[in-house]
Amino acid sequence: MSTRTGDAVTVRAPAKINLHLGVGAPRGDGFHPLATVYQAVGLYDDVTVSTAEHWSVEVVADPHVDLAQVPATEDNIAVQAGRALADHHGVALAAQIEIHKGIPVAGGMAGGSADAAATLVALDRLWDLQTSDDDLLMIAARLGSDVPFALLGGTAVGLGRGEQVEPLTDNGHYWWVAVFNDTGLSTPEVYRHYDVVCPEPPAPCVPDRLREALVSGDVSLLATALHNDLAPAALDLRPDLRETVADGEASGARAVLLSGSGPTILLLAADAEEARTVAGGMRARGHERLAAVPAPVHGAHVVRLA
Ligand code: C5P
Repeated sequence: MSTRTGDAVTVRAPAKINLHLGVGAPRGDGFHPLATVYQAVGLYDDVTVSTAEHWSVEVVADPHVDLAQVPATEDNIAVQAGRALADHHGVALAAQIEIHKGIPVAGGMAGGSADAAATLVALDRLWDLQTSDDDLLMIAARLGSDVPFALLGGTAVGLGRGEQVEPLTDNGHYWWVAVFNDTGLSTPEVYRHYDVVCPEPPAPCVPDRLREALVSGDVSLLATALHNDLAPAALDLRPDLRETVADGEASGARAVLLSGSGPTILLLAADAEEARTVAGGMRARGHERLAAVPAPVHGAHVVRLA
């Protein structure tokens, strides 16, 4: 039975991909120093919040998303986000949280981070807390490395463990075909394997070539500037992904890229028409679970008040 009382706010937050993911040697706290370029892509989770006596989470999903791996209430990052925001303001409030997932779970696209970011923005509006952008980013950073970027959206550099975000000039409009996988990959496991396959990595940095490609907005330049340090580790753990990469290359994509720590594989296209052709090529090769999405798109934003 619902304990919902009163108004509801719905916030939409995007998935992220990493156009560049440079990873250094693990720090003292176990996290890896990153120099990454995030891009928000048009695949979304919608989070609806309404005030309630107790915290609760209900999750529904698009057909391409497997819900089996979504954590239950107390472990769910959306509830952690809600509690963190209430604590920050010293208010003893709780909420019912409904998540509609369009971002694959454990897919390397920061779906959980999107839920956390959306919850922060939604509760801030619902409870009229007027949290400053700096405070929201600070709370977001404590929740997870990718959460600040889910607030920001667009294209941005991520430093530190990925939580220090700075918008980047990006004059392009791109399309990506995201090819999902039935089996998720654990991010900590991929990072641990990275330490094995790459024991002495150089300090990571964002290449000027990528910055220049984004300023030009030229998809051909972007195609040659993409890089993911985690790819060898992820492909080593999941050799089946090599076939998806090869199919992507054969489908006429401008470039093939592992999304974050995987297993989602990204295929770059210049426009919607090209993306449709690439997606058709992948379907013909047996890849049914995929989506063609534009990028860059906005960060977490209100889409409905009720
Ligand atoms: O920050 P987040 O909760 O998303 O990180 C999940 C896990 O991914 C961490 O516990 C850590 O194992 C790994 N990670 C890392 N270095 C980063 C970001 C994440 O080792 N910069």
